[in-house]
Amino acid sequence: MIILATLIFNIILPVPFCASLAAAAGRRDQDCKAVPGTASWPSKNSWASLNRSTGGRLLQPAPPGAVCHPGQPTYNATECPAVQSGWSTFEFHQADPISTYWNQWNNDSCLPEGGLPCSGQGYPVHVINATTSDHARLGVDYARRHNIRLVIKSSGHEFLGRSGAPNALSIWTHHIKGVQVHDSFSPRHCNVKILSTAITAGSGMQMEELYSALDALNQTIVGGGGRTVSVGGYLTGGGHSLLSASYGLGTDQVLEMEVVTPSGEIVTANECQNTDLFRAMGGTYPTPQIVNLVLALAATDIQSPSVFGMVAYILSQFPRLGDQGLSGYAFIFTATPNPYDGGVTTAAGIFMAMVLQDSTTKAMNELWAPILAHIAGSRLLGADALTRNLTLSAEAFKRFSEGTTGNVYLVAGKGVRNATPRGGGNSVCPAWRSAYVHAKAFDRVNHHLEPLRKILAPESGAYMNEADPQEPDWQHQFWGTNYARLLRIKRAVDPGDVLWCTPCVGNERWHQTDDGRLCQVDAWSSLA
Ligand SMILES: Cc1cc2nc3c(=O)[nH]c(=O)nc-3n(C[C@H](O)[C@H](O)[C@H](O)COP(=O)(O)OP(=O)(O)OC[C@H]3O[C@@H](n4cnc5c(N)ncnc54)[C@H](O)[C@@H]3O)c2cc1C
Ligand SMILES: *[C@@H]1O[C@H](CO)[C@@H](O)[C@H](O)[C@H]1NC(C)=O
Ligand SMILES: *[C@@H]1O[C@H](CO)[C@@H](O)[C@H](O)[C@H]1NC(C)=O
Ligand SMILES: *[C@@H]1O[C@H](CO)[C@@H](O)[C@H](O)[C@H]1NC(C)=O
Ligand SMILES: *[C@@H]1O[C@H](CO)[C@@H](O)[C@H](O)[C@H]1NC(C)=O
Ligand SMILES: *[C@@H]1O[C@H](CO)[C@@H](O)[C@H](O)[C@H]1NC(C)=O
Ligand SMILES: *[C@@H]1O[C@H](CO)[C@@H](O)[C@H](O)[C@H]1NC(C)=O
Repeated sequence: MIILATLIFNIILPVPFCASLAAAAGRRDQDCKAVPGTASWPSKNSWASLNRSTGGRLLQPAPPGAVCHPGQPTYNATECPAVQSGWSTFEFHQADPISTYWNQWNNDSCLPEGGLPCSGQGYPVHVINATTSDHARLGVDYARRHNIRLVIKSSGHEFLGRSGAPNALSIWTHHIKGVQVHDSFSPRHCNVKILSTAITAGSGMQMEELYSALDALNQTIVGGGGRTVSVGGYLTGGGHSLLSASYGLGTDQVLEMEVVTPSGEIVTANECQNTDLFRAMGGTYPTPQIVNLVLALAATDIQSPSVFGMVAYILSQFPRLGDQGLSGYAFIFTATPNPYDGGVTTAAGIFMAMVLQDSTTKAMNELWAPILAHIAGSRLLGADALTRNLTLSAEAFKRFSEGTTGNVYLVAGKGVRNATPRGGGNSVCPAWRSAYVHAKAFDRVNHHLEPLRKILAPESGAYMNEADPQEPDWQHQFWGTNYARLLRIKRAVDPGDVLWCTPCVGNERWHQTDDGRLCQVDAWSSLA
């Protein structure tokens, strides 16, 4: 199991109609969080004292793209090419204090291309390069006292833009590293001993770092498929895994967390203290022996409805396959240069990378034989149109993934349904408990995918960490029936809205204006 040390808890919730906010009503400068260049923004001396208290770890980073812009203070033609080539990699953005991978969330305000604008609008102003929970606490306290927007960045992989914001102080948790292995674990001040292996991991630890640290011990964790995803965002969001089919979600594994609260306390949350705050961390498991299968089913007649008939049929088999322990990732592609003829024709279909744990090749083949026989024997696809390939080259894999328009991950099922998180429950959207697959459609208007959506019943819920940022009913989609309870906790823990993000629990009282300020919504100011 993992215990995450130094995790900043950012379930975000606004205040009920309480006295302190009512007192602020009518004071215009209190209606928005402070922005640089105004009287409410702290002085240079004030920032310098924050810097001293963090041991000199305060940064005021220039936008990384500025090295490519003549006229910018950090312009450096020698460094520009490396920034340009790093820009499309996760590694570049994780190593930068303010950059995020999905750059539209930095308002594309300083891309590494001369000739385009470079303003730095859209990036945080100051960053604490945190390595301890005390650094994080100092940042939380400062933001609360000075009414400054606060964000937390770990790897900066976030699809929904919550790891950056304009006019903000950012706590950068990427360098909160470290892993400790336990043979058994006693949650602090609890009268229980959990007799399984566990780890304590810093919240900036990334999947690859954890997998390699544990590999030497023949252990592994319920972790993500992305090498560079960090435990901070993975676990606060839920966290699906190839091992979820057996053990549940990442969050279900958590035994204890060290949490910095919005009031600036560092607390331990586990099944017997601060139970409201207790959300996620987990144990390790023996590394399973994995039997894997990579399978592509494609047709060159890409307009034919039968292609999607085939895809739909395969997806309809996922619950049965999941019940038999299969997990993995499926990618649907609608128009991709056919890797088998050098791209002369175009192909549509599905490719899958699937695993069975502690099983045999024979069992894998038996699982798929009836499905492949059904496809070959049905009139879903003419035999000549069907390209069936059980051994995919890396090149073919790349081609398919480039043409991908929808992903279906078989990462839920029995393990998630039967998970028993310590402390009796967590914030995971209840729809996960009855789900088998997690589907992501990249092209919202792609009518080809509509029938698949129906089959997959996306109305059941959505996975926050990989969701559509415009999701209209996000409270319900991401947290389901847990929302009301989470909102109550948020209001109790963070009455002053020190933490705010969107879409996040309890953010309804504030909105970001077009010029990047964070302001109370009118209805809220006038009610107060
Ligand atoms: C290539 C890739 C592969 C992925 N694979 C999987 C997968 O297999 N399974 C899966 O479930 N998800 C997967 N995801 C989604 C991933 O879980 C989310 O994008 C997640 O939010 C990333 O977390 P992060 O900490 O790396 O990123 P960040 O962008 O740094 O942080 C994400 C969010 O978490 C918050 N946060 C981070 N650390 C902390 C902390 N210590 N305290 C409080 N808040 C914190 C940030 O404020 C932000 O809101 C993948 C994403 C990518 C890009
Ligand atoms: C913080 O202090 C360190 C060391 O004293 C210094 O190098 C750094 O520039 C300071 N940061 C800011 C934002 O002034
Ligand atoms: C530009 O970057 C190069 C490589 O990092 C460095 O050696 C050089 O000193 C920099 N030039 C200026 C003017 O900062
Ligand atoms: C942040 O802190 C880490 C750990 O001390 C250090 O290695 C890294 O260079 C720092 N980054 C910046 C940009 O100051
Ligand atoms: C891990 O498993 C391998 C292969 O079964 C074995 O040789 C090795 O000794 C194991 N290592 C540990 C630390 O248990
Ligand atoms: C399957 O893929 C392999 C590797 O890409 C290729 O060599 C082989 O010809 C393909 N088989 C068919 C039937 O397309
Ligand atoms: C984003 O950029 C646009 C165009 O440059 C600008 O009008 C807008 O104010 C910017 N938004 C923020 C939040 O900085």
